[in-house]
Amino acid sequence: MAQRDALADVCATMVTLNTTEDNVFRLLLVRAGPDVHAFVNRCPHFGVPLASRQDHLLQKPGISISCNVHYARFRWSDGLCESGECKGESLISVPLEVQPDGRVCIARDPIERQ
Ligand code: FES
Repeated sequence: MAQRDALADVCATMVTLNTTEDNVFRLLLVRAGPDVHAFVNRCPHFGVPLASRQDHLLQKPGISISCNVHYARFRWSDGLCESGECKGESLISVPLEVQPDGRVCIARDPIERQ
């Protein structure tokens, strides 16, 4: 999906996963030093993207990410909405694994690991 060192530190980066030729799925990769976590680019208020492009993504690095529509503000560390129309709800978190070579991948299903 990405190389950790290619992601700007203390920054949320939008990545696009092509699921089919005409369908894309966007995640927000949030890096802080060696740690990377991901959220689905979907606001829990109306179910719309937080932003449609990287340069539209509203963020206070290390603090919060905000929705472009009604400006709900989500905590950087865990995606909890701290203010706005969906206060108390959360962004959908996606489990990640960082491989020894620095590749960031969606974590394997824990059931498949057994
Ligand atoms: S759609 Fe995101 S705050 Fe309303």
